[in-house]
Amino acid sequence: MNTKIIKVDPIKPDRMSVAEAAKIIQMGGIVAFPTETVYGLGADAFNEAATNKIFEAKGRPIDNPLIVHLSGADHLKLVSTINQEIINVARKVWPGPVTLILPRAQGLPGTVTAGLKTVAVRVPAHPVALALIELSGTPIAAPSANLAGKPSPTTAKHVIDDLQDRVDVVLDAGETFFGVESTIVNITVNPPVLLRPGALGIEELEPIIGEITVPKEAHGYSESGVAIAPGMKYRHYAPAKRVVLTGGRDIYLEILKKSINFGKPAAICSEEMKPAVDNLGIRNIIIGSESDLYTVARGLFPSLRMLDEIDADFGVAQPFNENGIGLAIMNRLRKASGHIVINSPEELPRALDRLC
Ligand code: TXA
Ligand code: MG
Repeated sequence: MNTKIIKVDPIKPDRMSVAEAAKIIQMGGIVAFPTETVYGLGADAFNEAATNKIFEAKGRPIDNPLIVHLSGADHLKLVSTINQEIINVARKVWPGPVTLILPRAQGLPGTVTAGLKTVAVRVPAHPVALALIELSGTPIAAPSANLAGKPSPTTAKHVIDDLQDRVDVVLDAGETFFGVESTIVNITVNPPVLLRPGALGIEELEPIIGEITVPKEAHGYSESGVAIAPGMKYRHYAPAKRVVLTGGRDIYLEILKKSINFGKPAAICSEEMKPAVDNLGIRNIIIGSESDLYTVARGLFPSLRMLDEIDADFGVAQPFNENGIGLAIMNRLRKASGHIVINSPEELPRALDRLC
C-alpha cells in the first residue's frame, strides 16, 4: 500500500485533514498519529480485521494486547465495565499519559485484549489524537507505531522509517511532547500495581490515586520472572546495535575509556557529561540535560535510533536519576541494554558478547 503523509498542526489541527485520516479508520484502515507520549498506530477498536492489520504491520506477537484510546472518560463504558471508583480515578488522570488496566466490556475483539479479562485504556492529551478519535466516532486501539522491539517513535520520520507502505496514513504533527510512553497502572487490584513506568511519575500519581505497588520489574530489572504486562516479556526499545549501560555516573567515563579496546563506541550521555567525553575523543550522542529529566525523556528514543545510523559499533549509556520520569528513562535503558548493567571495565566483554 501507499502510505499517505498528512501534516497537521500539533496544537490547532485542521479538522479537514484529521477527518481524512478518521475516514480511513472508519473504513477499517490503519493510521499512525501523534499522542503526547509517542506516536501510536491506530485502528477502530471494534473492527477485528482492522486491529489485525496493526499486528501484521508491526510484526507484533498476537498475545500482546493493545491500549484503547478514548476521546473522553465519558466513553469508558463502551470498553470497560465501570463503577464510581473507576470513574473517579479516570476523571483525575485523563486526559494524560496514564493507562488504566480495567475490567473489559463484552464486545471488544479478542485481538485488542489478547483474550484477557482486562483492557488497557487511556485518553491522550494531544489535540491531534483527540480530534482523530472524536471524528472517527469510535475508540481507537493503538500500540506505539514502531516495528516490534524497536524504540518507540517520537517523530513521524521514525514511523515512516519503520512502517513506510505498511500503514495507510501518517498524521505528522512533529515531535511528541514527552518522548516516553504512558504510565500503566492496574487498578483492578488493591492497592493498584504499576505495570510500566511512564511519562507521569509515581510521585505525581500517588497523591491522585493513592498508594501504588511498584514491583521490581517496573524498574526494568531482569525479565527472568513472569512478565507483569504481556508485552514486557519481549525484547524492547532496542536499536540493532548493542547498548552498554553503566551502573554509576562516576565509573561511566572509566568504562567508556576502556570500551575503545572492543570496537568503536558512541557515548550516549548528558550535556553535562559531554566535555569529559570530548576529552576522551569519543563520539557522543547527547540525550538531554541531567538538570531536566524531561529533556532526557525526549532525547531517549531518538538517541537509540541515532546509534544505528552513525559509524559506531555499540553505545555506552550513562545512568540517570530515577525520580519522576527518570524511572521510565532507566526502565527503557535497562531493557535496551538487555538488562546487563556493568560497574567496572572488566565487565565490558560480558556486556558486549551477549547476542542481540
Ligand atoms: O503512551 C503509550 O502508552 C503509547 C501511546 C500510543 O498511547 N502506547 C503504547 O502502547 O506504548 P504499546 O502497545 O506499545 O504498549 C502497551 C503495553 C504493552 O506492554 C501491553 O502488553 C500492555 O500495555 N497491556 C495492554 N493491555 C493490557 C492488559 N489488559 N493488561 C496488562 N497489560 C496490558
Ligand atoms: Mg510499544
